[in-house]
Amino acid sequence: MKKFIMKAVSLALVGAMGFAFAGCSGKSQSSESSDASAAEEQFTVEKGKLVMATNAAFPPYEFYEGDKIVGIDAEIADAIAKKLGLELEIQDIEFDSIVTGVQAKKYDIGCAGMTVTEDRKQSVNFTSTYATGIQAIIVKDGSAITDFEGLKAGTYHVGVQQGTTGDIYISDELGDDRVERFNKGADAVLALSNGQVDAVIIDNEPAKSFVAANTGLKILETPYAVEDYAMCVNKDNEVLLNKINGALDELKKDGTLDAIVAKYIPAN
Ligand code: ARG
Repeated sequence: MKKFIMKAVSLALVGAMGFAFAGCSGKSQSSESSDASAAEEQFTVEKGKLVMATNAAFPPYEFYEGDKIVGIDAEIADAIAKKLGLELEIQDIEFDSIVTGVQAKKYDIGCAGMTVTEDRKQSVNFTSTYATGIQAIIVKDGSAITDFEGLKAGTYHVGVQQGTTGDIYISDELGDDRVERFNKGADAVLALSNGQVDAVIIDNEPAKSFVAANTGLKILETPYAVEDYAMCVNKDNEVLLNKINGALDELKKDGTLDAIVAKYIPAN
């Protein structure tokens, strides 16, 4: 008898709620909000898609293999998209347009070996971190520069990728006059090879691949800074942020993340 009453009460409640919802959607007669569940599902810029902005000149995180963008970030984002039932679309743009593009809701996420910084946090939210980055110093073999203090003390010029933390930190320390900004990290490294700059500051993993691709360069053993990488999401989109964090957590726990990293950064 008691059970029956409970059931009747809850049924009545459900009925009342349904009525209330119907009332709501009746008032706001916009086509997409008339179906409450469809409105709930739309948590990306384009329904069914996860649009990722990156700058695909940053191996092993994002780079071209033929005309396809591959790398650690591309694969992690793809694994996340699959978990969320979305199709990943990658857009290759200038690195320093990523945060503003996510802010403007042109892209769902920025995923680009992006360092979490207090400054960027003013504009976007960051997911939980999925990798550690190190700002490394590249010089020519035989360079008189052996560490950051030496670099700073001289009148040396440093090449960086525009808008990266390497750029921001070093411009702060040395002043704009001693910093040359390039669109791509590889261009900064080329300038080092050509003698246009005396050192390059860039994330360690791309540094390794740029040094491997050019003769006569080396990475100093003393790193410049250690940082965390995360994806950025529009501040209004807590739903997506939470879904990505949930997916990332699962990918960390089930070993997928480690496997992706190991595929691109073989343990020496
Ligand atoms: N970690 C650095 C930063 O966040 C550099 C990232 C550059 N990424 C890229 N895909 N080009 O500023």
